[in-house]
Amino acid sequence: MARSCRACFTTMRLLQMLLIHYCHLSAAVMTYDGCMSDSTKSYQVGGWCFSIYRNSSWAQNTPLQDEAQTMCHPHGTLAVGVTYKMQQKLQSGATIWGTATDAWLALVRNNSYPAPLQGWYWRVLLPKGGYATFPAIISNIPWGPGAGAVPPEPNNLAPNENVATLIRDYGLSDAYVTYTAATYGPRSMGVICQFASPQWSYTKRGHGRFADPAYRIAQTNVHKLSCLLQCHQSPFCISLAYNPTTSDCQTYAVSPEDPRFVGDVTPDSAYDWHIRDGMEY
Ligand SMILES: *[C@@H]1O[C@H](CO)[C@@H](O)[C@H](O)[C@H]1NC(C)=O
Ligand SMILES: *[C@@H]1O[C@H](CO)[C@@H](O)[C@H](O)[C@H]1NC(C)=O
Repeated sequence: MARSCRACFTTMRLLQMLLIHYCHLSAAVMTYDGCMSDSTKSYQVGGWCFSIYRNSSWAQNTPLQDEAQTMCHPHGTLAVGVTYKMQQKLQSGATIWGTATDAWLALVRNNSYPAPLQGWYWRVLLPKGGYATFPAIISNIPWGPGAGAVPPEPNNLAPNENVATLIRDYGLSDAYVTYTAATYGPRSMGVICQFASPQWSYTKRGHGRFADPAYRIAQTNVHKLSCLLQCHQSPFCISLAYNPTTSDCQTYAVSPEDPRFVGDVTPDSAYDWHIRDGMEY
């Protein structure tokens, strides 16, 4: 949220109060505040909190990804990899995993593409119904390096490995949707939940935009407040470029301040950057 925008602040404040009221009616742990309350069991960045949920009563190699889609509801969703660093931090987070060895995130592959690196996209079931989707930026994913006879991930080894898990101290790995012990060995599954703060700030910082459509979540013609809300309500959005003269709003899944993408910025004085505060790359 722009610091100068009083109307946005009022709206976000109202949204926050409604959400706080709602959250108090239900269990505390599976919420943004619950996730934030234990930094040893979560990764917190840019107004999001990620944690790995596991219930010790789950049978080995369960749940599968479809069931995992609803397990963080109604206050969170199955997680997307918002940055390379976020995925790395979770993978190597010594205290985050509990007893889980593998954890679901919302990454699936469209198997009409021939190569294992093609067709990956984030597909998140929202609590209100419907899926939010976004084509994955492959270079922004810390795939597992492989080991012994296993080639680097994604390797489509099973084959038809069209979903992905994060494996502890390894990285992301493609997998067959039934995740059987016969194929993968006995695994203790976790579910990576993503919780968003009801209120967050998106500071205006400099000018420019991304021209590469692979980074763009949406392009709309709206007021600045709607543009900021659109970004805030997306599980993918880290930055936006807004043109106050034409009202062109472009939301992005990457940041112009991320060293991985700074080289792709198109200088354009007509567009203001607004970037999620508190990100790290
Ligand atoms: C674990 O699952 C059991 C059986 O479904 C349920 O009763 C229990 O509340 C769950 N525990 C947690 C911590 O989610
Ligand atoms: C998979 O990709 C094909 C080819 O691009 C496309 O026609 C199809 O709609 C895609 N399926 C899904 C579920 O996205």
